[in-house]
Amino acid sequence: MEETKLNNIVTDRLIIRKFKNTDLQDLYEYLSNETVVKYEPYNVYSETEAKKEAIDRAESEFFYAVCLKEMGKLIGNLYFAKGDFDTWEIGYVFNEKYWGKGYATESVQALMNIAFSQLGARRIVAMCNPLNEHSWKLLERLGMRREGTLLKNIYFKKDINGKPLWADTYEYGILKSEWITGNKSSFR
Ligand SMILES: CC(C)(COP(=O)(O)OP(=O)(O)OC[C@H]1O[C@@H](n2cnc3c(N)ncnc32)[C@H](O)[C@@H]1OP(=O)(O)O)[C@@H](O)C(=O)NCCC(=O)NCCS
Repeated sequence: MEETKLNNIVTDRLIIRKFKNTDLQDLYEYLSNETVVKYEPYNVYSETEAKKEAIDRAESEFFYAVCLKEMGKLIGNLYFAKGDFDTWEIGYVFNEKYWGKGYATESVQALMNIAFSQLGARRIVAMCNPLNEHSWKLLERLGMRREGTLLKNIYFKKDINGKPLWADTYEYGILKSEWITGNKSSFR
């Protein structure tokens, strides 16, 4: 995956920026929540792990902090990485206290606008577990198409006997041309 340099993105309610070492507390607040990490490839973080994660993310070009414009509080993160053929993959994890308010939609939409208009993205893809309804509803709200369902292709977690908990995957995608005609774009 190629790295990208993005400047701060400002939306109506949010600022999307690079992580800072000092983001530890806000990051810990949501990465320590079982509900938030349920479909993620990791388990809940301890405070020490979250501290290291904040430092690692401050160095990473793949993770972006999503913060409330007025209070500055970090309420979630986006993942964004360039793959082959001008295709980019997005991911997102938000603090449960801030679900259901459209913040994920607002931040991903802004990022997709920048990707298609400035970064040369031709296609954007995302993957999620079919049981993660919040996630695929978000992708459909953004106008992404479900392109396939992979059966038991991956596992992130194991059961108490150490056996893989195999999971299915929905694959979603959208082309730049679809983004523009779907009226989600802030450019032509
Ligand atoms: C996936 C995730 C980011 C989705 O968050 P979300 O809160 O459902 O998404 P949004 O912030 O865009 O909010 C959308 C909801 O807010 C409502 N909403 C309220 N105000 C809104 C606004 N101004 N704009 C858009 N939606 C708004 C929508 O109607 C929608 O409600 P619904 O869920 O009842 O349909 C969140 O569930 C999460 O962090 N999950 C844990 C991590 C995870 O699983 N990540 C994905 C791995 S693949």
